[in-house]
Amino acid sequence: MPKITIIGAGAVGATAAQRIVEKELGDVVLTDIVEGLPQGKALDLLEAGPLFGYDSKITGTNDYRDIEGSDVVVITAGIARKPGMTREDLLKINAKIIREVSQNIARYSPDSIVITVTNPLDIMTYLTMKTTGFPPQRVFGMSGVLDSGRFASFIALELGCSVRDISAMVLGGHGDTMVPLPRFTTVLGVPITELLPQETIRRLIERTVNGGAEIVNLLKTGSAFYAPSAAVTNMVEAVVKDTKRILPVCAYLNGEYGRKDIYLGVPVKLGKRGVEEIIELKLTQDEKKALDRSADAVSQGIASLSGLVS
Ligand code: APR
Repeated sequence: MPKITIIGAGAVGATAAQRIVEKELGDVVLTDIVEGLPQGKALDLLEAGPLFGYDSKITGTNDYRDIEGSDVVVITAGIARKPGMTREDLLKINAKIIREVSQNIARYSPDSIVITVTNPLDIMTYLTMKTTGFPPQRVFGMSGVLDSGRFASFIALELGCSVRDISAMVLGGHGDTMVPLPRFTTVLGVPITELLPQETIRRLIERTVNGGAEIVNLLKTGSAFYAPSAAVTNMVEAVVKDTKRILPVCAYLNGEYGRKDIYLGVPVKLGKRGVEEIIELKLTQDEKKALDRSADAVSQGIASLSGLVS
């Protein structure tokens, strides 16, 4: 069984652990800085095994030595933005956490594939790659799978069709500047531009871009975790089963889409070696402009890490 470590046993981390053991994708190690939290959640999930019929082992720990030899590491450690906190404040706090976590991953699981989930996503994924010193193919972030999932669910509601027939595409940074692409979003191969009026598509795009905020506003004391953990699970599955699925992932660009030394959401082929190929879509001028705008915003964030990356 592959060894899958999840760092951060909060809402996203623990729910991802649940989904991963229920699918028997591997044995899971759940870690956190809070004593007892990962141990308690892991034990609870282990005890659910006989009821749901999964044999994946799951353990909880506060000791990084227990992550040794992991095949895949998922980073969900971090804090969410609290009222009164600026984006910069959040960036500084989570950057410190990502640095500490990444140093331990490099030390104890030097051959692992790392999936970053902590926000601000594109910037934290860049920092993970720089701090671990891993090749960029082995470090990527969860964004587009979640955003595409949200887009697809709204399209299915609008058309009254099954989500199974929808293939949605959202590129760019994970935030206000994300770029949902209706031309590449299809229902059984038919682009939604042929199925829905422009105005409706615009509304669905806006809801997708604000998807995270819509849930925060409803929950009031937390952020989304069911769909984010489902997105993580899809990505872990693609790696451990070496499925070579094409998924929108926050990946390192070295000239693709005209950008260098940046992490950005683009379609990639995911397999056991991580990002095995970056797929370059032929974009229209408007689409390219939107992607550039998104990349510029991410670049600014990365620049603000100066001092933390070499
Ligand atoms: N090492 C390990 N775990 C840590 C550390 C650290 N240095 N710092 C914080 N944590 C843990 C917290 O103790 C908490 O259990 O990370 C966990 C985060 O869980 P939640 O607060 O429930 O946050 P969650 O909703 O899971 O989101 C995690 O993913 O989607 C992003 O924006 C979200 O950045 C956030 C992350």
